Amino acid sequence: MSSQANAPHETSSAASTDRDPRKLRSARWFAPDDLRSFGHRSRMKQMGLDNADFRDKPIIGILNTWSDLNTCHSHFKQRSDEVKRGILQAGGFPVEVPVMSLGEMMMKPSTMLYRNLLAMEAEEVLRCHPIDAAVLMGGCDKTVPALLMGAISANVPSIFLPAGPMLKARWRNETLGSGSDVWKYWAERCAGNLCDNDWNEIEDCIGRSAGTCMTMGTASTMACIAEALGMTLPGAACTPAVVAEHSRLAVASGRRAVDLAWERITPDQIFTAAAIDNAIVTQQTIGGSTNAIVHILALARRAGVPLTLERFDEISQKVPVLGDLRPGGRYLMEDFHAAGGLSGLLERLKDLLHTNCLTVSGQTLGETIANSRVNDDEVIRTRQNPVSSAGGTCVLRGNLAPDGCVIKSVAADPRLTKHRGRAVVFDNYPDLKARINDPDLDVDADSVLVLRSAGPLGAPGFPEWGMLPIPNKLLKQGVRDMVRISDARMSGTSYGTCVLHVSPESHTGGPLALVQTGDEIEIDIEARKIHWHVDSEEAERRRAAWQPPIERFERGYNAMFAKHVTQAHEGCDFDFLEGNTPDYEPDIF
Ligand code: FES
Repeated sequence: MSSQANAPHETSSAASTDRDPRKLRSARWFAPDDLRSFGHRSRMKQMGLDNADFRDKPIIGILNTWSDLNTCHSHFKQRSDEVKRGILQAGGFPVEVPVMSLGEMMMKPSTMLYRNLLAMEAEEVLRCHPIDAAVLMGGCDKTVPALLMGAISANVPSIFLPAGPMLKARWRNETLGSGSDVWKYWAERCAGNLCDNDWNEIEDCIGRSAGTCMTMGTASTMACIAEALGMTLPGAACTPAVVAEHSRLAVASGRRAVDLAWERITPDQIFTAAAIDNAIVTQQTIGGSTNAIVHILALARRAGVPLTLERFDEISQKVPVLGDLRPGGRYLMEDFHAAGGLSGLLERLKDLLHTNCLTVSGQTLGETIANSRVNDDEVIRTRQNPVSSAGGTCVLRGNLAPDGCVIKSVAADPRLTKHRGRAVVFDNYPDLKARINDPDLDVDADSVLVLRSAGPLGAPGFPEWGMLPIPNKLLKQGVRDMVRISDARMSGTSYGTCVLHVSPESHTGGPLALVQTGDEIEIDIEARKIHWHVDSEEAERRRAAWQPPIERFERGYNAMFAKHVTQAHEGCDFDFLEGNTPDYEPDIF
């Protein structure tokens, strides 16, 4: 499919079968007859371990993002024990290393503020310890890209174990989907159609089990992308969190990590331009989260693969949406798994994939999907009957977003995909909260709601404020979607005609900073266009009058974030973490 694609890597047949323990990375810590290594060995023995436990065998790090405040990872204590069982079965030695947990539901202002912090931690934890290979345990949204980014930069053999989606929720006769049905029923509550008792019942039942959001939100999108990239065992992305199959997946991932250590299959063999293309095809065909665009950009740049938003749009024009999954479609992750999961879907698209990419299973992607089948053509559509003939997200450009912006077209009201309306502008999130439900707000169903100061620097941390609420007075009139434009992200479980990631963001003086209430804005998704109807002299006058915001952070992580985070179209990594220049290996200290 791609002229950008790297030459494919060879398959497991070429993987190293040399099981010489002297070549293990951990041998640098434990093998030498010197004072430092004496310290390493004697302190392992301090923990009651013996040579038979850890000498001459792969040491497998389990990077566990469990936390009492990560609601989606509450099964990870049990899963890490199961991973350990697999590692021991295969002749390795497990060491569990807790790393920062990014639980979407509890962190303010946004877990995105901390994705790069976890990525840095994962990289350094892998680099500084006697770890020959790693099992990366993540799931809740940003933990997936963060762990993968860290693994790319450390370049230690790694396998990703997704947390898995939670079970489907039911309320009366309805199947509830995480996030999506929260927004839906909140709108009904604001419209006066849902009483307190109904709302409390929904609160009690919508989070039915451990696991990640069971819509095709960011967590499920990123799990599918991890599988398509080749970083998980086949079938891992959709396996529900709390079924026995997920326990077996954990054990198998542990076993496979030991082989990875001996075979020395490193992330640089997995994260090629071809594999990045496969990730984009996957994001499009599942109708995946717009957040994945930012994360794929960051992963590619870590791996030294040149990638721009144009590549997403090129691929989106060729890839049909086959996953009929909420919020863009009808079904949930449990249905997707039963229907054949990602492998089944990808088998239907194999002509659009680089099937010769290596995966952590030791097989190529083509080999891992070869025997997959689809059990339900409603959930995983056929090529002849897609949800949409082109991909689920589009990149728009124009004078309001010179560096691009994105929209999840598959989740937009078809009536609004070509629209021109009068802007109603909110300067920041507090302004939005204060005025959106003001009965005197001059707004109607054709207005274009605009929010600024919500980008990577402006918020800071690029929060999920992009699905701006519909004003209550319009909800009561039956309005359920409007064109909304911001430099924010939105939750992968959200929906609506929301133009996101406007770049450059308003905080840096992007054109969004200059829009005023009453200006006309036009979007045309088919033409990939966003246009701010403003006289050029007027725009220049506003530009001359614009005052850059005062920087708020002088110390700590926030100051580092503000100084180094890149814009949305660049992946929002820290500029100093991009690229794949080899770092030092700490074996001389
Ligand atoms: Fe954790 Fe949605 S809140 S995956």
